[in-house]
Amino acid sequence: VDARPGCVGLLGGGVIGAGWAARFLLNGSDVRLYDPDPETGRKLGEVLANARHAAGLLLRAPLPAEGALELVGSPEAAADGADFVQESAPEREDLKRELLRRASRAAGRDVVIASSTSGLLPSRLQLDMEHPQRLCVGHPFNPVYLLPLVEVLGGAATSPGTVERAAAVYRDAGMHALVLDHEIDGFLADRLLESMWREALWLIADGTATVAQIDDAMAFGPGLRFAAMGTFLTYRVAGGEAGIRHFMAQFGPSLKWPWSRLTDVPELDDALLDRLVEQSDEQAGGRSLRELERLRDDSLIAVLSALRERDTTAGAVIAEHERALARRAGTAVTRALVADGAGAARLLEDAVAAELRELASDGALVERECRRRVIAEPAAGEALDLASRVTHADGVVHVTLELRRAGVVAATAEHVFRSLDTSSERYG
Ligand SMILES: NC(=O)c1ccc[n+]([C@@H]2O[C@H](COP(=O)([O-])OP(=O)(O)OC[C@H]3O[C@@H](n4cnc5c(N)ncnc54)[C@H](O)[C@@H]3O)[C@@H](O)[C@H]2O)c1
Repeated sequence: VDARPGCVGLLGGGVIGAGWAARFLLNGSDVRLYDPDPETGRKLGEVLANARHAAGLLLRAPLPAEGALELVGSPEAAADGADFVQESAPEREDLKRELLRRASRAAGRDVVIASSTSGLLPSRLQLDMEHPQRLCVGHPFNPVYLLPLVEVLGGAATSPGTVERAAAVYRDAGMHALVLDHEIDGFLADRLLESMWREALWLIADGTATVAQIDDAMAFGPGLRFAAMGTFLTYRVAGGEAGIRHFMAQFGPSLKWPWSRLTDVPELDDALLDRLVEQSDEQAGGRSLRELERLRDDSLIAVLSALRERDTTAGAVIAEHERALARRAGTAVTRALVADGAGAARLLEDAVAAELRELASDGALVERECRRRVIAEPAAGEALDLASRVTHADGVVHVTLELRRAGVVAATAEHVFRSLDTSSERYG
């Protein structure tokens, strides 16, 4: 099912709205954006340039033709005729509610309207809307055009179909839609980040550490690990062979030690603000916002590319998006991998399985034909390229794979599957 909206209406084009504009435009949707700031056009142009640069570096599958961007003069003009609406206005409940009310009157009654809010409750945001059942939160992470995570949740009046449709739109644009079962202040990720942020502010307020020391404490160690796995998996591994129970026994007592001041928050007075700003300026060392954004993006691309080769966490989302893009464009997607000693046949089988996992949502597939040819077995540790191409027509799926060593074909596989119409045909 094609979840790509033909036209997305965006309300607000600041840091987050511009990021959404870039993600949707690059994935082929037209965008109509409303923002009262007269500087919006210039800012959008700059963010879009960064996003094109990032997509060019990261993606190895062709993006569709870029959508068209139109700046409009009212929320109604952005929502009218849109297939999906995303609101990214300042984090003020009254302002958002008024915008959502106006957009809901202009948008088609079934059009999903999502809010980028970092923590306001959807049950409150939908109070003044017409057809409030189609409001949900789609909380992204900056930069929206690179980071896959978006938290999706509904409020008391939201229909389950709304959350599903929003999640499908985000997935189509290459994101990981994390659907939350419960509405909660701050949602999931920001609650976790907030605890770190409060602790960091205390460390500054107490004069214990500087802005730069606190950032180093994260970026040089735990931050790298967080790209691969979250707190629980990390601590499980940290428990060694004895596992998570042992870890809890070992570190459980520290929960009672004064390792955190989270019961309390520091007073954000001028003295604390001044100290923080002065240290932050020193840390930035005169680099401009766009320079720091490029540094952030290029580093994220390096991390995402590495994770993609391991087909894990955010990297797996990128790999899946590339396969979907390549399927749409009818081209092959090539990825690098390292032979693990298990042989070419296993590498090809894994690749077919990865393609099938993605196609599984289209219904059951039955294998009809498989031709595999191994010309040369790669040695363990050897760097390889794997090109895969999937075509899907009239219920027949062809998966063609080519494994190459230093550009020379080492093995090929061709699989033909038929999708099984479970209403008319039986398994076996
Ligand atoms: N910055 C982040 O890291 C981040 C991450 C996730 C979610 N969010 C959320 O995204 C939303 C936007 O945050 P941001 O960081 O982009 O803020 P921002 O200040 O960069 O952008 C807000 C934009 O909204 C515009 N605006 C003001 N009044 C408006 C109105 N009535 N209608 C339409 N637009 C209006 C402003 O001109 C500005 O361009 C907030 O709800 C925020 O909580 C922010």
